[in-house]
Amino acid sequence: MKTPLIALTLLALASCAGKQAQAPAEPTLKDYFADDFLIGAALNMDLINGLDPKADSIVRLHFNSIVAENCMKSQEIHPEEGRYYWAAADSFVDYGVKNDMAIIGHTLIWHSQLAPWFPVDSTGAKVSPDVLKERMRDHITTIMTRYKGKIKGWDVVNEAIEDDGSYRKTPFYEILGEEYIPLAFQYAHEADPDAELYINDYSMNKPAKRDVYVKLVNDMKAKGLRIDAIGMQGHMGMDYPDFTDFEKSIEAYASTGCNVMITEWDMSALPTVSRSANISDSVVYNTLFNPYPDGLPADLSDHWNARMDSVTNILLRHSDVISRVTAWGTHDGMSWKNDFPMKGRVEYPLLFDRDYRLKPFMARRLNQQ
Ligand code: G3I
Repeated sequence: MKTPLIALTLLALASCAGKQAQAPAEPTLKDYFADDFLIGAALNMDLINGLDPKADSIVRLHFNSIVAENCMKSQEIHPEEGRYYWAAADSFVDYGVKNDMAIIGHTLIWHSQLAPWFPVDSTGAKVSPDVLKERMRDHITTIMTRYKGKIKGWDVVNEAIEDDGSYRKTPFYEILGEEYIPLAFQYAHEADPDAELYINDYSMNKPAKRDVYVKLVNDMKAKGLRIDAIGMQGHMGMDYPDFTDFEKSIEAYASTGCNVMITEWDMSALPTVSRSANISDSVVYNTLFNPYPDGLPADLSDHWNARMDSVTNILLRHSDVISRVTAWGTHDGMSWKNDFPMKGRVEYPLLFDRDYRLKPFMARRLNQQ
């Protein structure tokens, strides 16, 4: 049930009783979803460091949860064995504490942006299982101990399973096998018994992937390991995911007894492309890869908003099991998708546009409360 805007307005006015009447409170995302789930955004260092003040204002007004886009990944926070770089992650956590937000740590064990030293010895050869276990335990324990009591929950393991349901052949898997995943969760729980622990991946709507994660999570729970939520990253496009599969996945993950989180929500507005095209060909580049550098045509924008509205309806339908929805960025200008699959691409995937305006599908919802 939405908190009616009139109630918010009267509350705002009542709280100003006797004082100069103030303008009614601006409807916000966190008020709109207050009875449903935490609403969050991924923060980059420009925003955290005050270089994007309009985005900072949006985050503080609209969101009650934040996640580190990059600064807590192993190559950033633990660039050499035993040497940690805390400044960026400390700034991120301080931002969340200062603004009384639910702070999410991303991500402890991930094959991408992995510190180069992590899985190898000085000769470049893979380390032994025992050495890797100790390195994982030290990495997880050192980081989680530093932020104990401040970080609500952690993406403990990220992107462990391929779309076909096979285990991704990461260095962690190659050295420790499937056991690296429960081990990571064991180490994380030992490091901070009060922290929520999540497993996170993309394309979580795919049936083969979904079945493996349901089994994996059930097995870990059967072993008595703590796992609080399954993170569906929620990177979408105009032709994916299949919304029926997406909704079935929410239900399947919830059947484990875990919460479900949409952890990295965005939706490409451009045609889905792959790197296989010859992007050095400027015609290919401009037509296929970067068709709308100066803004979306109205019909495509309307279609994008309609799809995002449909996803929002699905999330609200399952708000009983969804505990957090996080956008992977604040406004279109800061999205990773502007450079994916190659630099210079102009994308339109987030809840706020380049002029820091809330996209129409959501603005309509907030103003109709
Ligand atoms: O910080 C350096 C900068 O010093 C350097 O000048 C610049 C040169 O290009 O690179 C900067 O690092 C970049 C980093 O983002 C910070 O901007 C890396 O090259 C770039 O690879 C990195 O991309 C991040 C990507 O993960 C890496 O895989 C994206 O910002 C980030 O949004 C994206 O997020 C991931 C999630 O963590 C996991 N799920 C998928 C999602 C999208 O790929």
